[in-house]
Amino acid sequence: MHDGQAAHREPQAGGPRKACRPHDFHERGRRLSERLTRSAMAKITYIEHDGTEHVIDVKPGLSVMEGAVKNNIPGIDADCGGACACATCHVYVDEAFLAKTGTRSAMEESMLDFAEGVEENSRLSCQIKVTDDLDGLVVRMPESQH
Ligand code: FES
Repeated sequence: MHDGQAAHREPQAGGPRKACRPHDFHERGRRLSERLTRSAMAKITYIEHDGTEHVIDVKPGLSVMEGAVKNNIPGIDADCGGACACATCHVYVDEAFLAKTGTRSAMEESMLDFAEGVEENSRLSCQIKVTDDLDGLVVRMPESQH
């Protein structure tokens, strides 16, 4: 190859390679895209106050609240739409995920003053951004958001 001669190629196992047809190309791309999209989701378990569980795949970048609202999960009202101004997206974060979900901001802390039944693991779900690290997250909803 280095002396300017064309490289001699051995036929590959199974015979010569077939030319890639446009349909094959698009089909492979579609399958790869689906695989990447699927693996990029974080599985979150939302548990209603009565114990009903909802296991949802949530796209990283969304908030935990958005994951619930987009999937019609009852128990998270999110009246302000995620502006940290209503406290109706209150959840209890499973102990195993407290470090990964981070700490409350000062604004979140003051909004939680308006929520009922606040505990050490209480968070406003609109303030928790979903990341790959939160795959497996479990949050529980309070009895009421009002
Ligand atoms: S949605 Fe209003 S504070 Fe979270």
